[in-house]
Order: sequence, then C-alpha cells, then structure tokens
Amino acid sequence: MTAERKPITLPRLLDMHAKGEKIAMLTCYDATFAHLQDEAGVDVMLIGDSLGNVLHGAESTVAVSLDSMLYHTRSVARGNRHAWIVADLPFDSYHVSKEEAWRNAAQLFKLGAHMVKLEGGGWVNETVRFLTERGIPVCGHLGFTPQTVVSLGGFKVQGRGDTGAALLKRHALELQEAGAQMLVLEMVPSAVAKEVTESLRIPVIGIGAGLGCSGQVLVLHDMLGISHGRSPRFVRNFMEGSASIQQAVRRYVDEVKAGTFPVDAIHGFQ
Ligand code: KIV
Repeated sequence: MTAERKPITLPRLLDMHAKGEKIAMLTCYDATFAHLQDEAGVDVMLIGDSLGNVLHGAESTVAVSLDSMLYHTRSVARGNRHAWIVADLPFDSYHVSKEEAWRNAAQLFKLGAHMVKLEGGGWVNETVRFLTERGIPVCGHLGFTPQTVVSLGGFKVQGRGDTGAALLKRHALELQEAGAQMLVLEMVPSAVAKEVTESLRIPVIGIGAGLGCSGQVLVLHDMLGISHGRSPRFVRNFMEGSASIQQAVRRYVDEVKAGTFPVDAIHGFQ
C-alpha cells in the first residue's frame, strides 16, 4: 500500500533542504496545468510574472499587473491539492513601501498563494521582515532578476568574480536573517550557488544556477519546448523523448529529484 501524499508545507521544504532531498518547482499559470503538475508530483508551483512573457507576449515582466497575478493565482490554487504555491509580487507592487507590499501580498495570499516572491537584495530586507512577521512567507530572488533586466543591461549572469560573489552571498544571508524562507537564484555560477545553498538554512531553488542548489525551477513553456524564440542555455526540453505533456512533467520531476537535471557542464555557468 502506498502512503497517502501529504500537502507540502514550509517545515517539509526546510526539512528537504536539510536532508538534501531535491525540490522540484515549476511555473504554473492555470488550473488545468496545476492539476497536471500536482499529479506529476511537482513540490512547488510558481505563478511567475514570466506569465507576462509566455502568456501575454511581452518583452519583459515589467508590465505585469497585480490583477493578472491575482487572476492566475486563483486559477492555480483551484487546480492544486498538494503543492506549495508561490506567487510573484509584480514590478511596482512592493517598491514604494512595506505597507503597500503587505496589502498586495495579502491579496495573493487570500486567493491561495502560500508564499510571495520578490526580487532584489538589500533594499527589500525591511519589506521581507514586515511581511514574514505578519504571517506571509516570503521567497527572495537574487542573481539575474528579470524585473530589473533594463538596469542590468540584458540577460547577464550575476555573482561573477570575487566582488559579485561576495555581494550575492551577503544579500542571500541578509534575506534569510530578514525572515525569507526560500530563495530563488537565477543565472549564477554553479560554484557560487552551491556555496550559498550550503551556507543557508532555507531552500535555494536554482534556475541556471547549477546542480548544487536544493532544487530547480524552470518556466513551464520552456521545459515543454513551446516558448517563442531562442531558449536560454540552462533550459532542457523535456518533451523530447516524451509521449505526452504529463510524461514530460513527470520526467522533469524525476530528473530534478534524482539529480540528473541540470548537468552543470551543459546547463551551468562558471
Ligand atoms: O517569473 C518567473 O517565472 C520566475 C522564474 C524565472 C524563477 O521568477
């Protein structure tokens, strides 16, 4: 007899990180895919503001509204039973004051998000503390931060060199101390991401950050090979060799958990 699957909780995610059990996270934007991902054993669903790119056809995530995030969060929550749900706070929803961030995060939380994600290091710490002290779990996002693609000068690997790595490590530690309970690291050299992961109590989910993280996340449309344009190097198309979308998502989960995706020499950065 197989044990009944329990819903993923924050203590369970922290325990997975502590025990080195890999966490499979995937972006999700609607109820049908939430149901499919749930059946496939995805641990964490991210309603990413990448929906601006893959659903709305925008150049960047900057134009995504809070209303769009609320709409898709409600849809995903309706289709999910077991996964932990993270919703992005969009650009311009947490930048001006911690009180405004609270009001926006609370709306996502009321519609079924278990955690909100916000981008950046240093300046966000006060907001992270404000939200977490009042009962809304927060996931940080460091490295390449898509909402600031213009300031960063394009899609560039972050945390390179001694200074870049030291700044990234400091920001990661500060986020944890401010109360963040998860961290996404995007486009960071594999060795730096591994060091950050090993130094934190909270799970670190990588995207283009190598195998040394506590888990992995990809944009759903990228891993299904249906995104428009050129795929980033860190993506693998799991539809290749799969007979169905269900099988592709299951293979993604299995490979993340087995530690066979990503392969640093193919998908990683130095
Ligand atoms: O919006 C998103 O999909 C994300 C992932 C790239 C981590 O933030």
